[in-house]
Amino acid sequence: MTFTVPGGSPVHALKNVSLTLEPGELLSVLGPSGCGKSTLLNIIAGFLAPTSGSVLLGNQPVKGPGAERGMVFQQGALFEWMNVERNVAYGPDMMGKDKAETRKTVERLLKVVGLQDFGSKPVYQLSGGMQQRVALARCLANDPEVILMDEPLGALDALTREKMQGLVLKLWKETGKTIILITHSVEEALILGERLIVMAPRPGRIEKEYRLDFAERGLTLSPREIKSTPEFVAKREEILSMIWNMEDEIMGGGSSGNSTEA
Ligand SMILES: Nc1ncnc2c1ncn2[C@@H]1O[C@H](COP(=O)(O)OP(=O)(O)OP(=O)(O)O)[C@@H](O)[C@H]1O
Ligand SMILES: [Mg+2]
Repeated sequence: MTFTVPGGSPVHALKNVSLTLEPGELLSVLGPSGCGKSTLLNIIAGFLAPTSGSVLLGNQPVKGPGAERGMVFQQGALFEWMNVERNVAYGPDMMGKDKAETRKTVERLLKVVGLQDFGSKPVYQLSGGMQQRVALARCLANDPEVILMDEPLGALDALTREKMQGLVLKLWKETGKTIILITHSVEEALILGERLIVMAPRPGRIEKEYRLDFAERGLTLSPREIKSTPEFVAKREEILSMIWNMEDEIMGGGSSGNSTEA
């Protein structure tokens, strides 16, 4: 993917990126700012057409946005003037689905995300974490095959964020959806991704890929327990210093490899 800007030199946002996901996989994507994570996700979502190359869903080329690929953004992108139920029902309503059927779906999904008592509330009356849960439910209401998330938990406080990580894991297990999740948090990427790719910038590319079992363990153990295991700590440090060094190159700074996550 190369962006051309009038009067500027072309930006090689992505180069030689090749990736295959099996149905039901949960992939997390990490990398320094500007390495092309959102660009990659937007191409998969069909919001952007790649300069060259293609995205296939099954054997079908992706030519634009489609209901089989649902997107959850960093801020919910909800309709503030609608109540929770109507937000969640939006996709099925637009597709002209049976009203009674949709009502049942909405009820079930609000239960899944723990908002069963909030259906009639306008979304502006909800907290950030609750709004992100509505966004998740709204995405699920379209029953997409693939869920694309661009830092869906980035705006949440640490505690709510950890709870939401548990919810994403639960949804992944219960629905068997294929999920691609972009995050700036190394811990989050490790806890959620059974596959994890670390991207590098200039040009944006996949630098390293991991297969992890923390997500699987997260279905029985609490995130807190997993995060304190030696394996987890070692992986976190390895990836943090990898990204730290990349950021150093970008910023031209002279800091050491020691880092803690912000
Ligand atoms: N529409 C555009 N026109 C020109 N350049 C763009 C456009 N969109 C993205 N870019 C450039 O492509 C590169 C990758 O951007 P992208 O938004 O994918 O990064 P990112 O990894 O998501 O960063 P962040 O972590 O900050 O969200 C950046 O250099 C960015 O400036
Ligand atoms: Mg981005």
